[in-house]
Amino acid sequence: MQSAQTTFENIRKDFPILKRTVRDNKPLVYLDNASTTQKPTQVIEAITDYYKNHNANIHRAVYALAEEATELYEKTRDKVADFINISNREEIIFVRGTTEAINLVAYAWGRTHVKEGDIIVTTEYEHHSNIVPWQLLTQEKGAKLEYIGMDDNGELILEDLDKLLGTGKVKLVTFSLMSNVLGTISDADKIIAKCKAAGVFTLIDGAQAIPHMKVDIEKLDCDFFAFSGHKMLGPTGIGILWVRKSILETMKPFHGGGDMIREVHKYETTWNDLPYKFEAGTPNIADVVGLGAAIDYLSKIGMDNIRQHEIELTSYAIDKLSDVKGLHIYGTKDISKRGGVISFNFADVHPHDVAQIIDEEGIAIRSGHHCAQVLMERLDVSATSRASFYIYNTKEEIDKLINSLNKVAKVFKL
Ligand SMILES: Cc1ncc(COP(=O)(O)O)c(C=O)c1O
Repeated sequence: MQSAQTTFENIRKDFPILKRTVRDNKPLVYLDNASTTQKPTQVIEAITDYYKNHNANIHRAVYALAEEATELYEKTRDKVADFINISNREEIIFVRGTTEAINLVAYAWGRTHVKEGDIIVTTEYEHHSNIVPWQLLTQEKGAKLEYIGMDDNGELILEDLDKLLGTGKVKLVTFSLMSNVLGTISDADKIIAKCKAAGVFTLIDGAQAIPHMKVDIEKLDCDFFAFSGHKMLGPTGIGILWVRKSILETMKPFHGGGDMIREVHKYETTWNDLPYKFEAGTPNIADVVGLGAAIDYLSKIGMDNIRQHEIELTSYAIDKLSDVKGLHIYGTKDISKRGGVISFNFADVHPHDVAQIIDEEGIAIRSGHHCAQVLMERLDVSATSRASFYIYNTKEEIDKLINSLNKVAKVFKL
């Protein structure tokens, strides 16, 4: 059996894009994994194989190809169920990504269950996709959107939650399990326990957590969970919404059309079984198959090994970044409370300038507001630079990042 160390040394050869050079033959150093991850050959080939050998529409025709396509599609649902530890596959809905998953809940659950005067609670470190759908819903319903604040360490202030729950008006508390800007890992067990005691539903945005650590939804005991395939080695355009069945049964459809119906008459329609009631139209079959291959790939390495690898990289990076002149790191330095996402700023230097200068060295980091403008306001900045790691990143790449950032410090005379 291969040791975890050997596994990580061998991983890079599975990612064709990592052999690329950019900007005058510089090896690509890809550190924008919180945006999207690169794809291993195994995922690319699963998609190609689907189109070359099995392509047909699913759930309808009885011929061999259609049965094969359906089987491949449904097999991924089983893989997802195992991956997040869910025993009932009817609770797993294929969507386009986290954004669509949260909008589905806001629309199909929120429009039935949220009334005037109710409160939806989110947090100051959410991605726009876990804020805007709730603004739309609360504005439409005459309900209120409230926030759990964040302390200077980048951790949620749970006393804010206590106060809000104390009003007796909260219908849903929604939060990301890992912040896409600060890497903070939310104390989900505590938040969910408080909500359960108050009889309040919980939705977890798992977009950043799922690719990087073992997530056991049964153990978490939340009510809704959303994530995207493309941040976990899978293709773009495919994601998962998990909803507890007892809640799904109270929800109206999101989209109307083919496959989500049982019978359609001139003026009325009855719905298909779960989860198909929420999967209208021809789905993204090839990318569902690709997501299945990504889950196989990650499972083979083991999510605990992945978390450990990222802890090593992140501790190394925080240590080295702390020595770069004029550089400020946001969020906690306690590695047990954060993932492999590091946001930073140089005093007065705009993050776009930083990203542009180090791009000349072939290093890809993200600069901007990271779709988290509420958090930017809380941090009192308009943007940050962000480096984010994944399984194929190495300490040598972090050294390259540090060297380039030292050059930035020199250029701006910090
Ligand atoms: C925490 C978080 N939530 C939601 C999203 C939205 O994901 P998607 O664009 O795949 O729908 C992202 C994407 O960066 C994210 O980081």
